[in-house]
Amino acid sequence: MNVSDDIIIIGGGLMGLSLAVELKLRGANVTVLSRNFHEAAGHVAAGMLAPQAEAIPPGPMLELGLRSRSLYPQWTQKLEQITGLDTSYWPCGILAPVYEIPDTTKIDHPADSPAIWLDQQAINQHQPGLGADVVGGWWFPQDAQVDNRRHLVKALQAASEKLGVKTLEGVEVQDIIRNSKAVEALETNRGKITGSQYILTTGAWTGQLLPQVPVYPRKGQMLSVKVPESFDSLPLKQVLFGTEIYVVPRRDGLIVIGATLEDVGFNVGLTPDGVQSLLWRAIRIFPLLRDFPIQEFWWGFRPTTPDLLPILGTSPFENLTLAVGHYRNGILLAPITAKLITEWVLEQKSDPLLEYFCWERFSTAQLQY
Ligand code: GLY
Repeated sequence: MNVSDDIIIIGGGLMGLSLAVELKLRGANVTVLSRNFHEAAGHVAAGMLAPQAEAIPPGPMLELGLRSRSLYPQWTQKLEQITGLDTSYWPCGILAPVYEIPDTTKIDHPADSPAIWLDQQAINQHQPGLGADVVGGWWFPQDAQVDNRRHLVKALQAASEKLGVKTLEGVEVQDIIRNSKAVEALETNRGKITGSQYILTTGAWTGQLLPQVPVYPRKGQMLSVKVPESFDSLPLKQVLFGTEIYVVPRRDGLIVIGATLEDVGFNVGLTPDGVQSLLWRAIRIFPLLRDFPIQEFWWGFRPTTPDLLPILGTSPFENLTLAVGHYRNGILLAPITAKLITEWVLEQKSDPLLEYFCWERFSTAQLQY
């Protein structure tokens, strides 16, 4: 198979599709190679757009997250216009209750992204029904969410189809054939594929394909419950981001609860310990959940790097670009990644932020290329 004029995106998950749509809108020929659309991390996450609640310290990563969050309204609107589908973007704010009063209740965030401390009385007024152990918390009104599993990935898939992106599902890249400078071709289960440029968006599986790019899996187990029909209105209209737990209400009454953080490689499946810890923490932060009917359990693998920051831009090979390692923030960072990587690939325009996320930060003498 030869698609030599094309930009080949290796990985058909949320990141690959976001990039494909952006590149195609800018006139590029794009082919996406997708091993298994359903195993991508975009299907797993809760869809929080939470650069502030995730307590990312001030610096390039927070800037990247805030920029991406600010792109969300226009980005999702664009996808909705292209497809006619709802993306379910919801600028609902995120409340972060705590069980111990912190040393400081000041957070150094930009003025247009306030972090508002609420004492015990104020937080209970803000959100009735919190657990008795909650002593206060922060309100991040600009943080938001999107229903990634049921809406966003479908809208992205439909947009890429509508725009004419070639997506080859079931194509597994087994080897990247390269010389010392460049990628020459991809060895796949359907034969060799060549393109003019290659972009790697292979998530947690990146290290298996290109060991010199250090990305490995960190597992998360999750579940969902549903607000019983006896409720007249939603008991939660904002995300709760607690200690090792988050509770993400959707507008239709589904509530997503996550997630464990486990270094167990690609060990699939749920565990009693994982599920028990999620249930216990969820009920502690919002006790009403104890009686809500469980809908589903699932798990997935976050693409993790040694410093927990993404790897964006150049690679060891001149015609291969990296967009991997988004760890806990893949849904949040999809629009900014698509924008910056598209500008880099099509115009060689390197946004100043990209230098902080370059793969070279891991390239030491002991790594072999
Ligand atoms: N985005 C939250 C998580 O990865 O669990």
